Amino acid sequence: MADDTTDTKSSNQMWGGRFASGPDAIMEEINASIGFDKKLFAQDIRGSIAHATMLAHQGIISAEDKDKIVHGLNTILSEIESGNFEFSRQLEDIHMNVEARLATLIGPAAGRLHTARSRNDQVALDFRLWVKEELQKTEQMLTGLIAAFLDRAEEHAESVMPGFTHLQTAQPVTFGHHCMAYVEMFGRDRSRVRHAIEHLDESPIGAAALAGTGYPIDRHMTAKALGFREPTRNSIDTVSDRDFAIEFLSAAAIAGMHLSRLAEEIVIWSTPQFGFVRLSDAFSTGSSIMPQKKNPDAAELVRAKTGRINGSLVALLTIMKGLPLAYSKDMQEDKEQVFDAAESLELAIAAMTGMVRDMTVNTARMKAAAGSGYSTATDLADWLVREAGLPFRDAHHVTGRAVALAESKGCDLAELPLSDLQAIHADITDKVYDVLTVEASVASRKSFGGTAPSEVRKQIAFWRARN
Ligand code: ARG
Repeated sequence: MADDTTDTKSSNQMWGGRFASGPDAIMEEINASIGFDKKLFAQDIRGSIAHATMLAHQGIISAEDKDKIVHGLNTILSEIESGNFEFSRQLEDIHMNVEARLATLIGPAAGRLHTARSRNDQVALDFRLWVKEELQKTEQMLTGLIAAFLDRAEEHAESVMPGFTHLQTAQPVTFGHHCMAYVEMFGRDRSRVRHAIEHLDESPIGAAALAGTGYPIDRHMTAKALGFREPTRNSIDTVSDRDFAIEFLSAAAIAGMHLSRLAEEIVIWSTPQFGFVRLSDAFSTGSSIMPQKKNPDAAELVRAKTGRINGSLVALLTIMKGLPLAYSKDMQEDKEQVFDAAESLELAIAAMTGMVRDMTVNTARMKAAAGSGYSTATDLADWLVREAGLPFRDAHHVTGRAVALAESKGCDLAELPLSDLQAIHADITDKVYDVLTVEASVASRKSFGGTAPSEVRKQIAFWRARN
């Protein structure tokens, strides 16, 4: 404490040795991170216990001091967990709040904990541990979402629906196949998450301020104790790197984009005009003025959360882009972006998993829509290629004429009399009607990864074995 000055504010008890007075109120406000980094308390304490244990093992601090430190840290952990800890903004961040409390609890031995480390490697450690756990949680949640889609896909391997391009009816597909498209997307998201875990799995502690330390520490020991594969290899990079947070945010942003596309489809499908799905009461809301309405609010909010996640990614990329090596205080702004994105992503995955599991699929509406819009026109063209030997381009032209005729008569392709079809091309026989139904159309698309129910079932089996 700088009590030999007239200034009423006291300097920081952790680093205030050379300061005569404490910070201005605004300085304190802009500097403090405790308001959000208290979320890292468990990681901070875990890291400190591993560090103190290693210091004692290496003979840098005594076993007695280590025992006091570990005991004190465990006390603090239960104080925080039970809500009996008073966080102080004057103490800036979680690291100094914990250390100050430790000093109160165990006295001078507390001052030995910070030997051979700095808040720069400490915060890198705490945050990595937090992000790693969040990535593991995300991986599990994506597995749950994939499982929900696999169940729906299995149930609807044969249910036909229109497939779209440009949101215009294109060709009939199965709803199971459409569900499996999301399985592929969320499967890729999950592998991005797994790669991110692999990338960040190195322990930063022991990099100290930026240059390493002269104490005979054992970074392999702390890495192992904290569940990391190995220690990081460059102390400068270690304290200036936030790639792990950015990789989390990019994986989250891509998953968010997928969730948002799904949300958009659910919004469209649940309109009375489409009527393909009906959301459960549990995942929709009513209107306070229009009694007939059932709104897909959860889907809309998932679509919107994606905007927040993208914002966080861009924010952190921008925060980092101009920083010289190594640590700069700018990096303190990393946490809120990640915390906010993590919360949004968790909510979005959970809401989508619930919606997908609960929604009622209206197969009759889907089937009726699947047959409209001349969705089997390609099947007619393919038939002409296969059975009448026409080059595809000519077959395309002939089919176009048939579609125009059906359109002028206000009927489907399958409703055109054979004489009409034969007037367009003489080689057409009544066998053609076999391919003009939506069921025949989807069943024929047996190419690897195609929409035929048999093929969809193969893909479901592939993913079941991997989920
Ligand atoms: N609260 C800081 C952060 O979040 C901890 C590291 C502070 N390091 C320093 N040299 N001031 O980044």
